[in-house]
Amino acid sequence: MKNTTAVAHSNIALIKYWGKSNQHLNIPAVDSISITLKELYTKTTIKKLEDSESDSFFLDNKPANEKQSEKVRKFLELISLKKEFNSALRFDSENNFPTGAGLASSASGFAALTLAATNSVGLDLTPSELSELARQGSGSAARSVFGGFVHMHRGKDKNGKDAVAEQLFDENYWDLRLLILVTSTKEKDIGSTEGMNLTASTSPYYNSWIQSTNNDIDEMKNAIVQKDFEKVGELAEFSCLKMHSLAMSANPGIIYWNEYTVKLISKVRELRKKGFEVFFTIDAGPQVKVLCFPSDVEKVQNEFKNTSGIQQIITTSIGPSAYIVGENN
Ligand code: PMV
Repeated sequence: MKNTTAVAHSNIALIKYWGKSNQHLNIPAVDSISITLKELYTKTTIKKLEDSESDSFFLDNKPANEKQSEKVRKFLELISLKKEFNSALRFDSENNFPTGAGLASSASGFAALTLAATNSVGLDLTPSELSELARQGSGSAARSVFGGFVHMHRGKDKNGKDAVAEQLFDENYWDLRLLILVTSTKEKDIGSTEGMNLTASTSPYYNSWIQSTNNDIDEMKNAIVQKDFEKVGELAEFSCLKMHSLAMSANPGIIYWNEYTVKLISKVRELRKKGFEVFFTIDAGPQVKVLCFPSDVEKVQNEFKNTSGIQQIITTSIGPSAYIVGENN
């Protein structure tokens, strides 16, 4: 094995995924479309430990807790990689953004881990093969293997062979910006897998969600091909609100928002009425993410700078595919 460091960028879905058709293989019940985020990434290093019998796990330069370590261990077993390593290992994973607060650390985290681990044992996989493995760690991780605009397929194969992401356009296709309005950095109360499973088993709207998503995918693909910003934004808001109302319709209902989330949604819509070209999307957390053009970033940042409830604004452009930073024997 070699010591390897890999980087993968986070992503945000413009058309959301919520629900799994196979929990064990982590096959999504619907397709999704995302953009990869340049300023948010995870860097993961896997190193041989010569003088230890057991593996050690570090997250953001601190020893990982049992739950976090177990996630990595289980994932490597699941994708049958653990047995390929002939030594004890040290895993170091660093996020340049708050972990677990709806900023998709699992997407970049599992994509970086998949690339680092496969490279470390000498496997040279295609991006599509990497995506299939990363999916088993987290559905959105399958998309973080690719940069730019990415389409994740739910696939048809019962073993999930075609439940992989595909790049629609790379990061240079269309220069857009996303402003992440961070309203809380607390870990969420209910993780996305648990939330999805509860929704699938209790929401009366779940089947309609599954049936209506294909159309959203087709429309979003067309809007991206035509670089129709307004259409992309409208579809992103529609998919976001549909996903959150679906989660709210679970029993007990799941609410990822806080009071500021709702205020910021209104503010984005008010700005639009004033002529700003801004649209929002929100993942399984309370942060509001605002999509805009690069030339409007300053103007939009100024609008939100003094709004109460915003702890931090992270501005990002569209980012690249996952890559290897360094390797040595
Ligand atoms: O990557 P997962 O399986 O934890 O799911 C993430 C789901 C959302 O972020 C809420 C939506 C999406 O498509 O990314």
